[in-house]
Formats: sequence, C-alpha cells, structure tokens
Amino acid sequence: MLFTPARINTLEVPNRFVRSATYDGGAEPGGIVSDWQMELYRALAQGGVGLIVSGIFHVTKDGRISPVQNGLFDDRFIPGLTRLAQAAHAQGAKLAVQLFHAGRETHRWKQYKGETASGPSALAEGQDPYFAGACLAMGEDDIWATVEAFGQAARRAKEAGCDGVQLHGAHAYLLAQFLSPQANRRQDAWGGGLEGRLRLHQEIYHAVRQQVGPDFPVMIKLGLADGFAGGLELAEGLEAASRLAALGFDAIEVSQGLRGAHYAETEFRDRIVKREREGYFRGWARQVKQHVAVPVMAVGGYRSLDLIQEVVASGDADFVALSRPLIREPDLVASWRAGEERRPTCISCNKCFENLLTGARLRCMVPMKGEALNRQ
Ligand SMILES: Cc1cc2nc3c(=O)[nH]c(=O)nc-3n(C[C@H](O)[C@H](O)[C@H](O)COP(=O)(O)O)c2cc1C
Repeated sequence: MLFTPARINTLEVPNRFVRSATYDGGAEPGGIVSDWQMELYRALAQGGVGLIVSGIFHVTKDGRISPVQNGLFDDRFIPGLTRLAQAAHAQGAKLAVQLFHAGRETHRWKQYKGETASGPSALAEGQDPYFAGACLAMGEDDIWATVEAFGQAARRAKEAGCDGVQLHGAHAYLLAQFLSPQANRRQDAWGGGLEGRLRLHQEIYHAVRQQVGPDFPVMIKLGLADGFAGGLELAEGLEAASRLAALGFDAIEVSQGLRGAHYAETEFRDRIVKREREGYFRGWARQVKQHVAVPVMAVGGYRSLDLIQEVVASGDADFVALSRPLIREPDLVASWRAGEERRPTCISCNKCFENLLTGARLRCMVPMKGEALNRQ
C-alpha cells in the first residue's frame, strides 16, 4: 500500500512517502538555489520519496532566519527553483515548496543589526519564556504586505514548475505565532478568539489560490498544539484544521505549534530509538483525519517500516513524512521498496539541527559505520 499512488488535488504522488520540509542552510548567500542543493535534491529524489517538500523559502526579504536560506520574494529566484524542480522530476519525484515567514523569530539575525523583530504582539526581552528576544506588533500594512508576498511566492513556485506549495504553519514561525493565544495577544481582527487568530492563514490561502488557480496543490503544515501548557490547545488546533480544510487547503501535515524549552517539547523529539517513541503525533493525525476530507500527512519520529504501513493502512494518515532519517540515508525509501526491511540508522540526536544553527550546511553528524566524518 505504501508504494501505491495517491492524489493531492490534481497531483498524483507516486507513493505515500514524503520528505518533510528540512532547512539545509545550503543556498547561495542571498538565497538562490546552489549546486550543492541540486545534488541534495537529486539524491532525495533518487532515494525514492514520492513528494519532496523543500526546506523553508522566505517570502519576504526580511522574514528569514539566515542569509543562506532560500528566498522566493523576487522573480530572480525562479530560474534556480526551476532547476530544482527539474532535478526532482528527472527521478520521478514531485516537489512542493515550503513557503515561510519567521515572524518574531527574525530576531536571531535582526538583533545583530540593532533592529527589532516583528510578530503578532509586542514583547519586551525576557517577557516570554518561549521566545528569546523582543518584538514589535505587526501593523495592518505589514500584515497585508505579508499576505501578498505569500501569494506572489506561490505564483513563482508554480512558474518554476513545482508541483505544489506548503505553507509553514508550525514550529514557532509566523503562522504558528498568530494561531497561538500565548504569542498572539492582539485585540483586533487578527487576534482574540480562534476566528481572529486564524485570519492570517485564511487571507494567505485566498491570496495564494488567486495566484495559482484551483488545480494547484496548496497544502499546510499545521501546528495542532503548542509544546507547553498555556499555549494553543489541541481542541482549537483540530478546529483550525477543520476550518482550513473546508476553506480549500488540499492537504494537512500534522505537527506542533510553538516549541517548549526541551527537545521533548518540540517537533523534533530526540532519542527515537525504540518503536514506542516513534510516531509521536500519530494521535493528532488520526483526529485530524476524522475532522477533514483532504489527505493528511503524519510526521514526527517515524522510523519502522511496519509502523508506517500500519499508520497508512489503519487510515490514520494518507502519507507519512520523514526528515532526519533522510538526512543520513536519502536512499532509505528505495531500499525499503527493494525489500530491505531495516530500521534507519538515524538516532535522532538532533546534532544535525544544532550544527545548522552555527551557519553550517545540513549533514548527519554521526559518522557512518567505518567512515570518518567529512567535515567539509
Ligand atoms: C535539521 C532540521 C531541519 C528542519 N527544517 C524544517 C523546515 O525547514 N520546515 C519544517 O516544516 N520543518 C523542519 N524540520 C522539522 C521536520 O520537518 C520534522 O517535522 C521533524 O524533524 C520530525 O520528523 P522526523 O522525526 O522524521 O525528523 C526540520 C528538522 C530538522 C531536524
């Protein structure tokens, strides 16, 4: 069943494996697709996943986390993305672009320039235990410019020949910030109850759909609940998923919203070495599936082929997405397809993530058996 096709809107995805969006720190400075990224995506496509979701592409010039992150805020990014889509297609894989705005998380770089980040609500430094900086509240004009930027970025993705877009609505970035009552304290039409906190998602959906037309897959990775008490609760996350599916989103990948302080309170939990620790958002995916009529992608610690099979066969999700195992073994799915029923050798130590934070490119930090780590 895992190797049967499934549809997302008009797109036929050849199998049920998705490479979950993974930032790689490998763009050319300025955000253009690099030759190194071409090789990375070629290997992923050759490695057997049906759909690759790209790493985060920032839709406004400022809404980024790093200068070596891919940009999509100008037409000059289209040629590089066209090459990336062609590389995926040449190996039979589909490519969706993850559209991203960091919101208040831009403080990571803005602080060095003496600038202050913007997010849903103003915060002084130290006011929020789950956010390390200070930020200003986005004004009405800024919000509408961001909505328009998502639409234009989606147009560019389509023009580049990509197969879909996925809004990043999880992991403490802009959309997760707006949805969370912890981060969004606004009293205007962009805050308050769920309707207001979900308005940005809805306006972005309309702007994107207007640019790409009815047939192009528009997906969202949605944080169903925050990783700590007092933030977004599951009941509201489920209601948000229902409303977004009813609005027209073509698929929902189920993940977490804001992050807590420890890996156990994040979307990338560590030490997934036993089957019992795998699939830690499976219950959320199952509940989303019960609320929506569009395809659901499960993500979060999937390692065992038989568990992935069970998740899809039981109807808890239509697709299963993987990130960390494919950093180490991009050919994992192809080897499963060839009948090798082995566990990935990724130990979910998150050293790949910690290394990215130093400005380095994505790689597994644990040497392969018998290999010295290439530190290039
Ligand atoms: C190094 C690294 C980079 C990531 N980058 C992104 C990203 O760009 N966008 C995103 O939605 N999630 C990102 N994630 C989260 C993954 O897509 C995924 O949701 C999470 O790691 C759990 O899946 P896994 O257990 O298969 O790794 C990243 C995770 C890691 C470890």
